[in-house]
Amino acid sequence: MAKIRVGIIGAGGIANNHAHYYREIPDVELVAVADVVEERARSFAMRWGIPPDGVFTDYVKMLDSVELDAVSVCTPHAVHAKPAIEALKRGVHVLVEKPMASSGAEALEMLRAARASGKILMVGFQTRWSPELRAARKIVESGALGRIYYAEATLGGRRRGIPGSPTFVKRELAGGGVLLDIGCYAIDNMMFVLGHPRPLTVSAVTEAAIGKQREAAVEGGWPWNPDEFEVEDFVAAFIRFEGGLTMVLKESWAMHADTLGPPFILGTKGGLRLSPLEVYRDEWGYMTNTTLKLPQVDIYRERIRNFVEAVKRGGPSPIDPREIVVEMFIIDAIYESARKGREVEVKLPSEVLG
Ligand SMILES: NC(=O)c1ccc[n+]([C@@H]2O[C@H](COP(=O)([O-])OP(=O)(O)OC[C@H]3O[C@@H](n4cnc5c(N)ncnc54)[C@H](O)[C@@H]3O)[C@@H](O)[C@H]2O)c1
Repeated sequence: MAKIRVGIIGAGGIANNHAHYYREIPDVELVAVADVVEERARSFAMRWGIPPDGVFTDYVKMLDSVELDAVSVCTPHAVHAKPAIEALKRGVHVLVEKPMASSGAEALEMLRAARASGKILMVGFQTRWSPELRAARKIVESGALGRIYYAEATLGGRRRGIPGSPTFVKRELAGGGVLLDIGCYAIDNMMFVLGHPRPLTVSAVTEAAIGKQREAAVEGGWPWNPDEFEVEDFVAAFIRFEGGLTMVLKESWAMHADTLGPPFILGTKGGLRLSPLEVYRDEWGYMTNTTLKLPQVDIYRERIRNFVEAVKRGGPSPIDPREIVVEMFIIDAIYESARKGREVEVKLPSEVLG
């Protein structure tokens, strides 16, 4: 069988992770890379054995002149939708980095392009291969926790962890701050475990509380440039779902506290903490805490391997893109509610309903 020909769009930090795992697979060939910064594209090509005629500063030129089976889109959040759509239009499968896009509208356009082309659109949530999350999902599905009525979604927050690259903090590139960067994981992790309940309304606040303060760039924290900071560094949201489930989302890039606490789920017959995974139930007339012996998995290897396998099969995507479009509409509603200072509806498009 001919090798799978892969191109990379955006040759920054995470693109190297993609290239590393693609290169592990014998029937994958890295053939092209595009980055607006020519030097970055060139040195990336050198590092990963991409031939000189596969180096581009314009991804459209790359898509038009190189025969490709698949691309990884590794550009800043607000530059995910266009390259993904252009690739899909040309019949090329797409693995796009998280967050799917910088808005629900963009994500929907991407979904439509994928449907029109019949090609794979996979959002690269490597966390979908986390043994803890997969076990938690199984436990919820088994009914052992009863009716789930409450969940807290978070990665726990960072005390001083604002990303240094403009990719994440300049509005034009990022589209938003901590919510889009790591809030998207907190939401996807919990939605995956809960079996993708349908969101109804959101009441939320966002804050740029620390990011602009030069004196907050203290020793021991991640270095960033407070003068470039244009987005939010804190988010809290109260999200209502069909069936009486409520989720609180909280995330922070910077705060005066060590942690926002763990993600957890409460059900009528049991509860669980997601990381590290622990299950709380009543058994034999006692309150029990259960931990599981879980396998060690390289989740980044799994995401590339599963994408490539799906490409070989011709689809479907290992992660249903409609699930992530719903999550992007939750994110839109969070920003809208924070702006308006009141609860708003999550307006889901017909393409993701039913
Ligand atoms: N899954 C993960 O664990 C993970 C980790 C880090 C980043 N990410 C995601 O990956 C994306 C990139 O993050 P990063 O840390 O690699 O950022 P980065 O700033 O290191 O790299 C982004 C690259 O995109 C290039 N670029 C910008 N506009 C472009 C365009 N129009 N065409 C071609 N190239 C363009 C930039 O020049 C830069 O080299 C972000 O969306 C981020 O959320 C995911």
